[in-house]
Amino acid sequence: MCGIVAYIGNKEAYSIIVKGLKRLEYRGYDSSGIALLNTEGLNTYKKQGKVANLEAFTEDKDRSGYAGIGHTRWATHGPPNDTNAHPHTSEDGNITLVHNGIIENYDSIRKELEGKGYTFKSDTDTEVLCYLISDIKTKTGVKLGKAIHLALQQVVGAYAIVVMSKDEPNKIIVARKSSPLVVGIGKDNDFYVASDATPIVEYTKQVVYLNDDEIAILNRDKGMKLFNIDEVQKEPYVEELELHLEELEKGGYEHFMLKEIHEQPRSIKDCFRGRLNAEEAWVSLGGIKEYEQKMIKANRIIMIACGTSWHAGLVGEYLFEDLARINVEVEYASEFRYRNPIINENDIVIAISQSGETADTMAALELAKSKGATILGVCNVVGSSISRITDAGSYTHAGPEIGVASTKAFTAQVTVLTLMALSLAKLKGTICETKFRTMLSELEAIPQKVQQILDKNDEIKLIAEQYQGASNALYLGRGSSFPVALEGALKLKEISYIHAEGYPAAEMKHGPIALIDEEMPVFVIATSGPSYEKVVSNIQEVKARKGKLIAVVTEGDQQVHDIADHTIDIPDTDEHLVPLLATIPFQLLSYHIAVMRNCNVDQPRNLAKSVTVE
Ligand code: G6P
Repeated sequence: MCGIVAYIGNKEAYSIIVKGLKRLEYRGYDSSGIALLNTEGLNTYKKQGKVANLEAFTEDKDRSGYAGIGHTRWATHGPPNDTNAHPHTSEDGNITLVHNGIIENYDSIRKELEGKGYTFKSDTDTEVLCYLISDIKTKTGVKLGKAIHLALQQVVGAYAIVVMSKDEPNKIIVARKSSPLVVGIGKDNDFYVASDATPIVEYTKQVVYLNDDEIAILNRDKGMKLFNIDEVQKEPYVEELELHLEELEKGGYEHFMLKEIHEQPRSIKDCFRGRLNAEEAWVSLGGIKEYEQKMIKANRIIMIACGTSWHAGLVGEYLFEDLARINVEVEYASEFRYRNPIINENDIVIAISQSGETADTMAALELAKSKGATILGVCNVVGSSISRITDAGSYTHAGPEIGVASTKAFTAQVTVLTLMALSLAKLKGTICETKFRTMLSELEAIPQKVQQILDKNDEIKLIAEQYQGASNALYLGRGSSFPVALEGALKLKEISYIHAEGYPAAEMKHGPIALIDEEMPVFVIATSGPSYEKVVSNIQEVKARKGKLIAVVTEGDQQVHDIADHTIDIPDTDEHLVPLLATIPFQLLSYHIAVMRNCNVDQPRNLAKSVTVE
C-alpha cells in the first residue's frame, strides 16, 4: 500500500522517480506526487489519479533536480485528492516527506501542534509527521537526522519515510518501522530508495534492505550512514539483487495479468526445480529441512494468510491432512491476531504471502512468535519482511507478480505446499512408496498440463463472451476444489466487479440455491475423483433451477458434458493436484470478462497488491 521512490546523486531525479512510481503503481494508484530539489530550491507537484496524470501535469514545469522524493498513494486518511497526495511539506516550506504506513496517534500530535499555532492543509497523518519533524528542528536547532529521530520516538504506528530538506540539500534521510524500504547503492554516492527493489534494479543490483527502527542518511558527498533507534551507527548489510529487468515488463502481452497467467508452466517448474526428482523418488525443501521433524511432531500447524494466499492455505490444509496426517488450521491473519489465540511452543505457524509484506500477516506472525511458536514462511518476494522475520521458509520462485489479481503466485504457493506435504508424508511414513512416486511424476507433468489448458484460451474466451453481462455468479467445488471455487469467485469480483461467491458444492442448498435462475452463471469443478458423483447431483440441482452451468471436467468426461451448458476439459491428474489445473480456466475466464467489460485488469479500483496497513 503506497509506493515510495526517491533518488539523490549525479543524475536527473525526475525520470528515475516517475519511472519507479509507475513500477510501484500496483501498491496504490489513487494519487501521486513528487518533490524535486535543485540549486534554486524545492518544487513539489501532486496530482489525483495515476502517475500518468502527474507526468502530464508537470510537462511544462521545472522538473530539474539532483534529488527527489516521489509517492503513489492508496488512501488511508483523507480522500484521494491533490491536497492529500504526498509529498507533504512543512509550514515553513523547508522540509518535505513521503510516507507509507499509518501514524496511529496522529490525531493527538496534530492537536498538540495546532495548539502551537500550526495550520494543516491536508487530512493526512503524514502531514502531521512532517510538521512534527519541522517543529522539533526549528525549536531545538538540531540537524535534520536528529529531528527525525526525536519525532519518530513520539510516533506510534507503521512507517517507511523519506525526508528531504532545503536546509541540508546534500542528503535524503530514510527510516523504517513495519513498512518496507530498500536502498540501492549506485556508483559515486548515487542512492536510490524504493518500497521494493523493482524501481532500483535497472540502475544497481547492490541493495540494503532497511530493518525496523533503522534510519539511514544518504549523502551525495559523504555516502551512506546507517543508525539504529539508539542512534548507534551500524554497518549496512549490502545484498545482491537477483531480480531481472525483463521480469518487470509485459513482454508483448496486453496486461501483466495475462502474462502472469501464461507464465505458469514456467513458474510452477521454477518452483519445484531442484526440489523434486520423480525418477530418483525424492523431494527436498532445503529451507525447512531442519524443521521437518518438528513439523511432523507438531501439535498442529496453523496457516495464516490473507486474500488469495489464504485460499492457497486451504488447499494446503487438504494436502497436509490427507497426505501427512498432520492437524492443520487455516486462519485469516486479521482474525487470528485479534482473537487471543491459544498458541504455544508445540505449534507451527506458516505464513503464506506473495508480497511478504501484508501487515496483518506480519502482525499475526509476530504474535505467534511471542507465544513461542515456530514461525515459517511461504513467500514470493525474496528479502521481504515476512521472509526475514520467520525462523525458516520456502520461497515460491514465481518471479515478480505485478497484476493486482494474484495468479501465478497462487499456483506457486500451492506447489510449495504440495512439496511440503509430500516431504512430511514421506518422513512420517504416511504415504506408500508407489503413491509417493506417482505423485512426484504427476507433479512434474503439471507444467505441461497447465500449458494444455492455456492452449484452450480461445475456447474459454467464447464462454466469457456469453457471461460478460452477468451481475452475479456462483462458484462451486468440493474437497480441495472448494478453495479453487473461492479463488475463482475472488478473481471474477476483483477485476470485473461482478458479484461472485464461492461455496462448497453441497452447501449451495443452504442458501445460494435461492439465487439461482436462468440469469445466474454457476461455475462448477466436476473433475473425476471420489466426490464426482456428489458434484454431479449438485449440478442437477442447479440445472433443475435453470441456472447456466459451466463445468470444469476431466478430459473424456461424458456425464457432465451432457448436462452442462459449457464444459472446459482439463487433463487428468492425481486428485491432490487438481487445484493446480482447475484454477487456470477460472483465471482466463475472469481475465476475458474483465477486458470485455472495459475494466482495468491490472489495477482494479480500490485494490492494492501489497496491503501494508491493517
Ligand atoms: C491483496 C492482493 C491479493 C493478495 C492479498 C494477500 O489483497 O490484492 O492479490 O492475495 O493482498 O497478499 P500477500 O502478498 O500476503 O499474498
